[in-house]
Amino acid sequence: MEWIKQVLSQNALWSLLLCIFIQFISCNTDDLPQRARNLMESSPLIDGHNDLALQLRRIYKNRLSKINLRTINTTRTNLQKLKTGHVGAQFWSAYVMCSAQDKDAVRLALEQIDVIKRMCEDYEELEFVTSSLGIEITKKIGCLIGLEGGHIIDSSLAALRMFYELGARYMTLTHTCNTPWAETSSDDLHKFYQGRKSLTDFGTEVIREMNRIGMIIDLSHTSSNTSREVLAISKAPVIFSHSAVFALCGIKRNIPDDVLLSIKKNGGLVMVNFHTEFIACRKTANISTLADHFDYIKKLAGPGSIGIGGDYDGVTGFPEGLEDVSKYPLLIQELLRRGWQDEEIRGVLRDNFLRVFRDVESIRDQQLNLRPSEKEIPEDELSYTCRLDLQNFQQRSAKASGIQEISISAFTLITYMLSCIFIFW
Ligand SMILES: *[C@@H]1O[C@H](CO)[C@@H](O)[C@H](O)[C@H]1NC(C)=O
Ligand SMILES: *[C@@H]1O[C@H](CO)[C@@H](O)[C@H](O)[C@H]1NC(C)=O
Ligand SMILES: *[C@@H]1O[C@H](CO)[C@@H](O)[C@H](O)[C@H]1NC(C)=O
Ligand SMILES: [Zn+2]
Repeated sequence: MEWIKQVLSQNALWSLLLCIFIQFISCNTDDLPQRARNLMESSPLIDGHNDLALQLRRIYKNRLSKINLRTINTTRTNLQKLKTGHVGAQFWSAYVMCSAQDKDAVRLALEQIDVIKRMCEDYEELEFVTSSLGIEITKKIGCLIGLEGGHIIDSSLAALRMFYELGARYMTLTHTCNTPWAETSSDDLHKFYQGRKSLTDFGTEVIREMNRIGMIIDLSHTSSNTSREVLAISKAPVIFSHSAVFALCGIKRNIPDDVLLSIKKNGGLVMVNFHTEFIACRKTANISTLADHFDYIKKLAGPGSIGIGGDYDGVTGFPEGLEDVSKYPLLIQELLRRGWQDEEIRGVLRDNFLRVFRDVESIRDQQLNLRPSEKEIPEDELSYTCRLDLQNFQQRSAKASGIQEISISAFTLITYMLSCIFIFW
């Protein structure tokens, strides 16, 4: 009966091993929420793009006094949900509609910056920050500003610099319209500056100036050729603040493979957009569809090139399970389930963006000897419908000040004569 004993004990051994194995697997699977939570608590998310400010304008005319941002439920973003989602810093988009190009885009952008600043001032959960260090040391949710649409600077490098002074830290070169100096990926939506290709000479100067002052270049919404041109000339790493992969959903708004490879070379970052129409080219999608974009970029450009730019409140369709900003941990669980390493996930959440931001800052600091650019866009590259004609303005004001001088001296003369007459009287 020795052999029976042996088989039994072997079976027992095997079942024991099997048991341990199953335990290990189920243990690991059950632990996914916990592992995701642990990772996000120690590495809170820096998200590249949120359009809450657009909704504040659209629904509330920027009247913050009328709403409570902690619990507001007409938007996909509120402060409670940001906390649940382990968001540590958020780029709030100061977005301006293309239809305001060459009209009041500058004012509208100022108003969006104003509402973002007031929001971050009003709530103790938020803190306005403008540097990589600021993000790292805040104990609150860091508020950052991204300008969405190059039409916001109205082709003025002076305006670009002043937006930086107000705290804007990236600028998306185009929205869905060409600017006088850069080409959009949505070439059929608006009639502005048709025929613009890639970057003009002035566009190249915008890139140089952004590199010089430390404004991150955002290539989301730009045409692939604009992206290629910028990647060829930018001294600093660039980002896509909210874009997805062309190979998985072939629309022009997404990033083609050669540009993904250039991003890797540039040390830049793709912050992946969650919008169903961008990730699945359909109205519906699930977390797995989205995770495919992460896997794809990781394989082609490496885990150091990936971040998150959910685009909440900027678009309507989101994957099942990712309906609002409290749901980011479910994506992290899915990446863990697919075998992503902790360090890779910390990169996606936070470290990759911080690396890019620090590099942009250090390239700025290496160019402190460069003077601000005084280049102006050639007048014939602009549409002048709503601009003051400065050519005439300069002549007119010269004439006006001439008249003033004459009238002042005539006035002085008469006063002098009168006082003389009075004194000698
Ligand atoms: C949204 O908030 C309002 C009050 O702020 C509340 O009355 C309403 O029930 C909420 N709706 C949902 C779906 O939670
Ligand atoms: C992009 O640039 C290349 C090279 O200049 C050109 O051949 C191509 O037509 C451009 N693509 C588009 C869509 O304009
Ligand atoms: C997600 O969607 C894809 C494509 O529609 C489908 O093949 C897959 O089964 C879905 N996965 C889950 C977990 O629902
Ligand atoms: Zn956008």
